[in-house]
Amino acid sequence: MKNGTKIGRNDPCPCGSGKKYKKCCMGRQTEKPVDLRKWYKQKYNIRLKESKDIEGIREAGRLVLESLDRAEAEIRAGITTEDINSLVSEHAESYGAVPAPLNYRGFPKSVCTSVNEVICHGIPGEYELKDGDIINVDVTHIYNGYYADASKTFFVGTPGADAQKIVRVAAESLRAAIAMLSPDHTIGDIGWAIQNCAERQGCSVVREFVGHGVGFEFHEPPQVPHYGKKGEGIPLVPGMVFTVEPMINLGTPRLFVRDDGWTAVTADRKLSAQFEQTFLITEDGYESLTPYPL
Ligand code: MF3
Ligand code: CO
Ligand code: CO
Repeated sequence: MKNGTKIGRNDPCPCGSGKKYKKCCMGRQTEKPVDLRKWYKQKYNIRLKESKDIEGIREAGRLVLESLDRAEAEIRAGITTEDINSLVSEHAESYGAVPAPLNYRGFPKSVCTSVNEVICHGIPGEYELKDGDIINVDVTHIYNGYYADASKTFFVGTPGADAQKIVRVAAESLRAAIAMLSPDHTIGDIGWAIQNCAERQGCSVVREFVGHGVGFEFHEPPQVPHYGKKGEGIPLVPGMVFTVEPMINLGTPRLFVRDDGWTAVTADRKLSAQFEQTFLITEDGYESLTPYPL
């Protein structure tokens, strides 16, 4: 077992007795190795996934990617963000999947569409895409009870220099995060890698929204900040499933939320971009359950 998963004297005993470790199995010759599943549930409220769960999330992930492909194929100047919503919701429906955003904490649509200075949680509507826009489409489907969550930022027509830069840095930031996805790293390593990648290129990292455990529900523990320090936070172990979804801004990391209660916008109205995938930690690294090239 790696360091990070060492049991502290005052932690609850992994045998499930409810006593402190030092009052229970510490020092005893335990025959059984620590049950990680119990341990992560008890200590962090994280539900590790087993193979049938992973298969379910992978299937949901395939549909999510297919929805993103359909959206991409239609994206051009002149279509509305509502058009993207219809397309994604009809695609999900045709497979008996349910778009998770619809009615989630009052969110009114099936997908988030975040254009230009909108960081995330943009609500589809009458806005017509125009040449030079960037748009993040964020899709989460529930399929056979399992959730998968992914997003991409697309160009509309021909991008300007700023659009090219922010989309490139956002994609690179997720790539840098992926390099940290294995059982010898911690959640802090993920944030550190993203922050380092974005800030060294003069961009900034949004703090208010984080990646999250996913699979049984839309948002589960743990939270996965996109900033942080190496070695800090929960150690990654096989069976963890969570998103990494860095929101990278061209200017200030600060934001405000519009009166609709959802749309998060950069405080300086400069561009923001995001890429998101759902990842599984494996014995020797990771698997993306919503894989696409970055
Ligand atoms: N898909 C977003 C995420 O990555 C969450 C959207 S919440 C909604 O976590 F209500 F706006 F859909
Ligand atoms: Co997410
Ligand atoms: Co998402």
